[in-house]
Amino acid sequence: MNALSGKDILRADQFTKPEIERVLEVAAEYERALAAGETLAILRGRVLATLFFEPSTRTRLSFETAMLRLGGQVISVAEAKSSSAAKGESLADTIRTVEGYADAIVLRHPQIGAAEEAAKAARVPILNAGDGAGQHPTQSLLDLFTIRKEQGRIDGLKVALVGDLKNGRTVHSLAALLSNYGVSFLFVAPPALRMPTAILERLREKGVSVAETDDLAEAVRTADILYMTRIQKERFEDPAEYERLKGAYILDRAALRAAKSSLTILHPLPRVHEIALDVDDHPGAAYFRQSANGVPIRMALLSLVLE
Ligand code: NCD
Repeated sequence: MNALSGKDILRADQFTKPEIERVLEVAAEYERALAAGETLAILRGRVLATLFFEPSTRTRLSFETAMLRLGGQVISVAEAKSSSAAKGESLADTIRTVEGYADAIVLRHPQIGAAEEAAKAARVPILNAGDGAGQHPTQSLLDLFTIRKEQGRIDGLKVALVGDLKNGRTVHSLAALLSNYGVSFLFVAPPALRMPTAILERLREKGVSVAETDDLAEAVRTADILYMTRIQKERFEDPAEYERLKGAYILDRAALRAAKSSLTILHPLPRVHEIALDVDDHPGAAYFRQSANGVPIRMALLSLVLE
């Protein structure tokens, strides 16, 4: 039985651990099939709509190629700015229209909770590709897949999440997903960009070990996973505040001398200032492998949801 069949993918905390494991298992199978050059037709005749009201490269293209690799087809609005939202149409009306054209909808939207709102209006599954500073569950599944591939395990790891923990939806979802495993967290942020209290409380209620610091060096010295993030410029009301914080953490090769030799460095990308180019050929620099892992993970999600 497939528990995700016909379901929306809205938040990381909707998943049970067996559901997470099922997604990772199916993704590993698709990864093998892709590497073997197999042609798949599991979703032949099915149509996916991608509706992005915010910029995207990786999330959109990996969802689209995932659907194509499964034999399905994709329709999308070139830029949501050019769509009827620009004419004042409500999200609910847009969704009710698009579901007339597609079997599932991938939605990215600047408002927290937009995916939930869309799911209420829709009869077809909604896959949340980022709702403002809220959640980005499909990213976290590919992050988890990457961690297990790079480290061979998830349990027992010390995971440092670094940067804009207040506004970063990837870290909100990743913290929730990892709380199903035996990890310990170090949250590294300037005081103004700390992880939201509600998320900290939920983790502590679940008995997860969480420490906070504003010191990147401490994270570099002790972590198994260093998950860097971009300061989320588009979420700042005051441009001066962004200017003050944008260079808060810059990881370079010299800083990595203090790190464990087995360290894995992740970043959901795009990077702006956070990782110097001289880190890219470090053996633990896994961020481009991470973005490639978006394809098998999104193939797994699409096939499980549309099964
Ligand atoms: C992230 C996002 O959109 O939240 N990008 C992505 O999906 N890979 C991270 C970011 O924009 O900083």
